[in-house]
Amino acid sequence: MSRFRQQYSFFIGLTFPLHRIESKQSYFFHKLTYGIITEEHLHVEIITSEVRFLIITLSPMAGVSDKSFRKLCTSMGADVTFTEMISVNGLTKKNKKSFQMLPDVDEHAVVQLFGKEPELFLRAAELIGDRARWIDINAACPVFKVTKRGYGSALMKTPSLLRKIVELLSSNGIKVSVKMRIGWEEQKNFMEVARAASDGGAFLITIHGRTVEQGYSGKADWEPAKLLKKALKTKIGISGDIFTPYDAVNASTFTNADYIFIARGSIGNPWIFEDTKSLVANGEFSLPSLVEREKIIKKHLDMEIEEYGLHGIIMFRKFLVRYLKNLPQSHEIKESFMRMENYEELTKVLDAYFDKLISCEQGGVEGGNIEG
Ligand SMILES: Cc1cc2nc3c(=O)[nH]c(=O)nc-3n(C[C@H](O)[C@H](O)[C@H](O)COP(=O)(O)O)c2cc1C
Repeated sequence: MSRFRQQYSFFIGLTFPLHRIESKQSYFFHKLTYGIITEEHLHVEIITSEVRFLIITLSPMAGVSDKSFRKLCTSMGADVTFTEMISVNGLTKKNKKSFQMLPDVDEHAVVQLFGKEPELFLRAAELIGDRARWIDINAACPVFKVTKRGYGSALMKTPSLLRKIVELLSSNGIKVSVKMRIGWEEQKNFMEVARAASDGGAFLITIHGRTVEQGYSGKADWEPAKLLKKALKTKIGISGDIFTPYDAVNASTFTNADYIFIARGSIGNPWIFEDTKSLVANGEFSLPSLVEREKIIKKHLDMEIEEYGLHGIIMFRKFLVRYLKNLPQSHEIKESFMRMENYEELTKVLDAYFDKLISCEQGGVEGGNIEG
């Protein structure tokens, strides 16, 4: 048995109950199949000692990381939350929609900005003032509508401009970070871009382990984050394919990154933040009960309605689909929910659905258990 296997077996043997061993092993082999994590990377024993200070972060997501979702994730263990990207042009032109996307002062969220003119970034940051925990510059968005104007990941093609933006903000006393990808295409220039951001004064550089050309296809490559962490003094954030608490711990262990960014894995599963903390602290976590799921779904719905009025019901649809994923017979409720715009009707349907599931679970009726 290799040294790794001994450590691995020792660790799970000590701290994981049986069902955890199964899920951990299948996770391990799944990752090996994709060739991302090798035995050398998976120093699982570190979970119990060094990996105790992960800063678990809700990644920026346009159309998703709104005020309600950020606040919900904060209440469920996220250490840092990011707004979706907000246009510096919109803010400096006093666009109402752009201002509505800003966090409340007491929320302490990071505001992510996109654009390309350094002066507009500065003016926008000054308008935002203390509503932002700090300002993050988007050099990661691959959407053509954004990059064709030189915004988002197009900044990776002009590292000197990115540096200018960062420098202007930091020389004006504004705390600033940058989110980027590993490169535009095959030729990955992440080191050059990260150095430019770091030299400009960014305190944190987050790297999504895909090229711009890749979009969201393929698997995220965590190696560049590891290289940046070794090469730079700047704090490093890792983003990409962190869908479970195990992914979070492995990403941290492999890259040594300071901030662990969770995006898609939090939609419909805001428990992932607390679960990750529990895994780090106790070596295990438990899935939310049906009662807990229903409670959080309703809480989230109420928060969306508080933020947007009745339009919140429509905003909530994308979340509900994900909350109900893998729950039995959820396709019917998902379909009827897509047509509903009435709050009372909607909560009645939710109540009836969960009552049925809970009584099935209590009575041990087949098909009433949560799958997966
Ligand atoms: C719906 C959606 C919207 C996103 N919007 C943004 C954004 O506004 N700014 C940004 O930097 N990244 C954005 N991203 C990228 C994520 O922050 C993250 O880097 C990427 O999804 C990889 O992480 P994941 O595998 O955990 O989803 C978005 C991703 C998704 C799925």
